[in-house]
Amino acid sequence: MSKVFSLALTIKDLITEEDTSVIFYDYSFLNDRIEDLVSLFPPTTLHAVAVKANPLTHILTKIKTMGVGSEVASLPELYLAERTGFSPDKIVFDSPSKTRNEIAYALKLGVYVNADSFDELDRIAEILQTVKSQSIIGVRINPQVGSGTIKSTSVSDIISKFGIPLDANKSKLEEYFLKYDWLKSIHVHVGSQGCPVNLILDGIRKVLNFAKELNESFKKKSIEKLIQYFDIGGGLPVSYYADIKSITMRQYQKMLQDNFRDLFNGQFKLITEFGRYIHANTGWVASKVEYVKRESNVNIIMTHVGADLFLRKCYNPEDWHHQITVVDNDGNLKHGTDKNRYIIAGPLCFAGDVIEKDLELPIVAEGDYVLIHDAGAYTLSMWSRHNSRQVPKVIGYNQSNGNFEVIKRRETKEDLFDFWT
Ligand SMILES: Cc1ncc(COP(=O)(O)O)c(C=O)c1O
Repeated sequence: MSKVFSLALTIKDLITEEDTSVIFYDYSFLNDRIEDLVSLFPPTTLHAVAVKANPLTHILTKIKTMGVGSEVASLPELYLAERTGFSPDKIVFDSPSKTRNEIAYALKLGVYVNADSFDELDRIAEILQTVKSQSIIGVRINPQVGSGTIKSTSVSDIISKFGIPLDANKSKLEEYFLKYDWLKSIHVHVGSQGCPVNLILDGIRKVLNFAKELNESFKKKSIEKLIQYFDIGGGLPVSYYADIKSITMRQYQKMLQDNFRDLFNGQFKLITEFGRYIHANTGWVASKVEYVKRESNVNIIMTHVGADLFLRKCYNPEDWHHQITVVDNDGNLKHGTDKNRYIIAGPLCFAGDVIEKDLELPIVAEGDYVLIHDAGAYTLSMWSRHNSRQVPKVIGYNQSNGNFEVIKRRETKEDLFDFWT
């Protein structure tokens, strides 16, 4: 990272005085993640990468070129996927509060649609009376297997705002599968970071058993009906710590295959919706040290990103972590250890605008940069407008050939004015 940053600093006009923070994306890492994913699952699998994790259109275009699809959770995300060229049969539309118009739009387009409730299924039925559609339609089930360690990203507790709770609704779900012959897919997403893999597997197991039970029951009753698609969601956790290894996609796929042969024997067409695993470790941020406030017992670094970019970290500090490296103004790694510990604070006007605290760092000085690791997912996509800070420049790079490109320019004052007007 420091080497890449040093090199970037030497490229004329790439990083200018006003670029107090810059976001970097490593294309080779992204490539490896996607190639790995594609190689591990059956070729018929639709890998719909979660746009909410990283909606940068350059990145979406790259992902599309690699042959995978996109999972969208709002109409604007659907628009992003459409405009970047994903074909409708590679887009999965999940959203817990789709309007009638949004549903009609998605059905006309022919994207996959996962309904979140019985009421939404009834709406879809109503709309299908007048709209012709190629869409594969599914329903999201809450398997009610419990919560992971991060409440705000766990969605499969007994009560959750997402999906239809399974335990009390098995017969009603069967009724709906029978009532609507277009309902052919089933969807489960247990949660994001903080959900241990065993919990994710528990969720998939419960919903898969249910889908198989239904298919068996249709067969027994000689009803021509089959659930043909199984969407396992995303949620594979990543590591935000240099010294902790997270589970790899290869290991996860093996666990899926060992536990759920039926997902791999052609009985169902598989859909996945990974976001964080694809993006989190591809991105990092360089932010200039503007001041260091030195007190007798602590040093406070004032830098240029905080809760605007690292919203989850700053508002829920106990749940999230980012590794920090310090480099000088040429990008060279700084060594040694200061006698005081450090707080890294952002530029926003509230006390919680702190990225990391109680850090052991080398002696940090004005003009150095802090490099904030693993910032590729749920960071820029959650950008906060507090204090109207400008969204930093985004640079994509390829480590193998040393190519850098600006994939999003730094927001201008005029952009900001437009936003607030
Ligand atoms: C329905 C759904 N699918 C996929 C994802 C992506 O999860 P992750 O980024 O943890 O893989 C999410 C995340 O919130 C989601 O809600």
